[in-house]
Amino acid sequence: MRNLKHLFDNNRQWSQKMSELDPSFFPTLAAQQSPQYLWVGCADSRVPANEIIGLLPGEVFVHRNIANAVIHTDLNCLSVLQYGIEVLKVKHVIVCGHYGCGGVRVAMQTQEFGLIDNWLRHLKDIYQKHEAVLDTLPDEQRFDRFCELNVIEQVYNVCHTTIVQGAWRRGQSLSIHGWIYGLQDGLLKDLGVTITQPDEISALYRMAVKS
Ligand code: CO
Repeated sequence: MRNLKHLFDNNRQWSQKMSELDPSFFPTLAAQQSPQYLWVGCADSRVPANEIIGLLPGEVFVHRNIANAVIHTDLNCLSVLQYGIEVLKVKHVIVCGHYGCGGVRVAMQTQEFGLIDNWLRHLKDIYQKHEAVLDTLPDEQRFDRFCELNVIEQVYNVCHTTIVQGAWRRGQSLSIHGWIYGLQDGLLKDLGVTITQPDEISALYRMAVKS
């Protein structure tokens, strides 16, 4: 199919509906964006950032990749963090994982999938780090806990980027949150690892990975 007509039809209807609700909606957005939130989530089609948290275009700056990983040398993710924090001046970075994450599941297996295995290698490292605890859990519980631990580790990674460290040093108000989303019920859970300044990192991290 050369033209995805139904998607353009959807788009026209959506655009029309938004303009009817608020004629200034698009002109205002076109002039500027000033989101308060930066979302780092999984690329999974079932976890769309805006819909889940009920925000309109313009309200959340988004970065998504497989298994919501924040890799220290990933220029794509780091650039989003830098632009979001230093230019847009977001107040909150939300790392949001989800239960039933395919990327996390694959990282628990030995089966090979190609290029993606290199990306998921980072998650395998996280598994190894927490192996002693994870290996004691029954399968489904182990998978859920690994999904949670992945979020906690990525929050930790966000906090240690030069971008977040620099923002805090400059006295910029910035909180990093770790959430997880349930595909079964569409509900978010706060993992209780919100970090607002550098001296909170170690204690919260230790508590979070233990609980
Ligand atoms: Co996922």
